[in-house]
Amino acid sequence: MEVSTLGSQELMELEDKYGAHNYHPLPIVIARGEGVHVWDPEGKKYFDFLSAYSAINQGHCHPKIINALKSQAETLTLTSRAFYNDKLGPFEKYITEYFQYDKVLAMNSGVEAVETALKLCRKWAYEKKGIEVNKAKIIFASGNFHGRTLAVISASMDPDSTKGFGPYMPGLQIIQYDDLAALEEALKDPNVAGLIVEPIQGEAGVMVPKDGYLKGAYDLCKKNNVLFIADEVQTGIARTGKLLATCGNCSCEKSCGHQPEVKPDILILGKALSGGVFPVSAVLARDEIMLCIKPGEHGSTFGGNPLGCAVAMAALEVIKDEDLAGNAYKLGKVFRSRMQELCDKSDMVTLVRGRGLLNAIVINDTEDSKTAWNICVALKDNGLLAKPTHGNIIRFAPPLVMTEEQLHECCDIIVKTITEFKA
Ligand SMILES: Cc1ncc(COP(=O)(O)O)c(C=O)c1O
Repeated sequence: MEVSTLGSQELMELEDKYGAHNYHPLPIVIARGEGVHVWDPEGKKYFDFLSAYSAINQGHCHPKIINALKSQAETLTLTSRAFYNDKLGPFEKYITEYFQYDKVLAMNSGVEAVETALKLCRKWAYEKKGIEVNKAKIIFASGNFHGRTLAVISASMDPDSTKGFGPYMPGLQIIQYDDLAALEEALKDPNVAGLIVEPIQGEAGVMVPKDGYLKGAYDLCKKNNVLFIADEVQTGIARTGKLLATCGNCSCEKSCGHQPEVKPDILILGKALSGGVFPVSAVLARDEIMLCIKPGEHGSTFGGNPLGCAVAMAALEVIKDEDLAGNAYKLGKVFRSRMQELCDKSDMVTLVRGRGLLNAIVINDTEDSKTAWNICVALKDNGLLAKPTHGNIIRFAPPLVMTEEQLHECCDIIVKTITEFKA
C-alpha cells in the first residue's frame, strides 16, 4: 500500500495554515479509499459511515466508475458547450430514460443544480403561468439545506449559513416543513411559482416527513398550478432504499423501477450521480418547463463535459447492476433495529430515524453540547467515521455497497463506543 510521505498531524496543520477555515473537520486524514473502507496516512483502516455526505453511494473508487473516468480522460475531457461532444447526447438519453423525464440540464455541483431549478421555475412562471414580471415567489421549507450560494442561503434558517452574508435574495417564502396546512395557506398567493423541498432533510438531521406529506404537497401544487421541485441531491439515487426518495412510501425490496407516487415537476440530482468521482449534477424536467430556457440564458463551462458524462453513466449503471436501492432498503431496516436496541438500553441515545441507509441518532444532550462531536471522535478511534449534523444529532450514511456482515460489525462498533462513552 502506498503511504503518504507526510503524517496525519502535518497534513492537518497544512490545511489549517494554508486553507480557508470554512469547515471544521473531524481530526482524521484520509489517504486512500476502497469500497466501504478508507485508510489514514499511517495505514489505519476505518469504515466510512458518511460517504462524503452521500456522494459515495457506490463505494470508494468503484472499479467500473474509475475505468470510465480513466478511459474518457485519455480521450476527451472538455469541449465547453460551444460545440457538441460525443458523450453528452448519450448521457442525456440515458439519464432521461433512467428517471423518465423529457430533458436534462447538466451542471457540476449540487447547489448549481438547485440554482438552475430555481431559474427554470421563475422562467416558467413568467412564460407559462403568466405571473407578472419579477413577481414570482418560490416556497422553501423550514430547516432546508440546498447549498451555499447567495440565492439558496437567502432561504436558509441556519444562522451559520446566513449571518454576515446579506442582503438576501427576494422572491422566496419559508413555511414549516411537513405541514400541509401551512402550504395550503401559502399557495393562496397567485404569484407562487414553485415549492422546493427535500424529501428527507439530510443536513437538518435526517428529518423524515409524515407519511403522505410529499403526496399531499404534490397534490396541492398541482391544484394551484405550482411546480413541485424535489431537491434529491442527498436523498437521490438509492440512498433511502429507493431510486428516489420521492417514490412514495412503497416498500419494494428491489430497486424501484415502477412509477413514483410523486413525480416531481423538476428533479434535482448531484452527489451520487458522480459516484463520488467527478462533480456532476443534473436537473430533470418535462419539455414544457425545460424549454423555457433558451440558448445563452443559462449554462456552465464544465456542465455536460464528456468526462462527467462518462462517469455519471457508469455511476448510474452501478446503482442498477448492483441493486443498491434494494441493499439500502434491506440494510436500513437492520441498522435501525440495531440502533433501536441501543436506544432501549442506553440513556445516551434517545432515538433513531431514517430511511434506507440515510439515518441519524439523537444524542441525549443539549443542541449546543459537544457530546455528539466527542462520540464521533471516539467512533473514529474505534475505526468508524461519522459526523454530527446539528449539535446532538449524528448522521449515519455508509456506502450502499456494504454487506450485512460489515453492517453488523459497524453496529457493534457504534454500540460499544456509545455504551462505553463517558461524557
Ligand atoms: C439537499 C442538498 N441540496 C444541495 C446540496 C448542495 O450540494 P453541493 O455541496 O454539491 O453544492 C446539498 C449538499 O449537502 C444537499 O444536501
